[in-house]
Amino acid sequence: MNDLGLQSLIDALPAWVSGVRFFPETDSTNRRAMLWATEGAAHGSLVVADFQTAGRGRMGRDWVAPPGSGLLVSIVLRPRLEPDLHPLLGLAAGVAVCECLAGMGLEPGLKWPNDVLLAGRKVSGILAEAAPGVVVLGIGVNIGLAVMPAEIASTSIGVEEAAGGQVDRLEVLAGLIGHLAPLVDGPPDQVISRYRDWCRTLGRRVRVDLGSGLVEDLAVDVDAGGSLVLAGGAVIRAGDVTQLR
Ligand code: BTN
Repeated sequence: MNDLGLQSLIDALPAWVSGVRFFPETDSTNRRAMLWATEGAAHGSLVVADFQTAGRGRMGRDWVAPPGSGLLVSIVLRPRLEPDLHPLLGLAAGVAVCECLAGMGLEPGLKWPNDVLLAGRKVSGILAEAAPGVVVLGIGVNIGLAVMPAEIASTSIGVEEAAGGQVDRLEVLAGLIGHLAPLVDGPPDQVISRYRDWCRTLGRRVRVDLGSGLVEDLAVDVDAGGSLVLAGGAVIRAGDVTQLR
């Protein structure tokens, strides 16, 4: 993997990126990005770290990645979309990760809402956090697996393991942004139609942990706002999905 640094990031990233902050170590790039947004960070500002001491995951979980093992990035967006459609931005990030990995010859898929899987194991997770007028898209991609913590090793995979060789984090980040930019600035229906193509949850029986309880049913669609639609008519806006068969 190439060393991450401010200059290498500036050199590698597409012009859509309006600013970059790099931290060898920070608590959470999402927290940093939200703070920067309150100070006026523009649409397309990126916070990248080599290591997080308090990486945040969905549903109140942690995101753990040893130094140098992954891509940890948060992107400040100032969306023109109605707040009701903001969940589409998280889905767009999942699509962008899939399209980037597919471009490397891999076969990714999405578990609703936006866990990216390779060979049934998680390679990337996305945490979208919102404040008035701002959405921060936090994306973690496992790159090197040799140093994966034992507690997640059986359910996680790194891009290098799947690719069978060394992978440049900067190239992955540049590819990811290249796919993401037109999606977040384009029409929302395009996000959903591309999302459905990558989503491996559809057509599967699922158990969804809603926080307040569990629901089990067949997943049949993702609606125009990004919610998961179950055969019995339930429309799920947020939850943790287990794909059953
Ligand atoms: C998930 O639970 O799957 C979402 C994980 C999101 C992790 C990324 S790493 C970069 C960004 N900063 C954070 O604190 N979290 C996100």
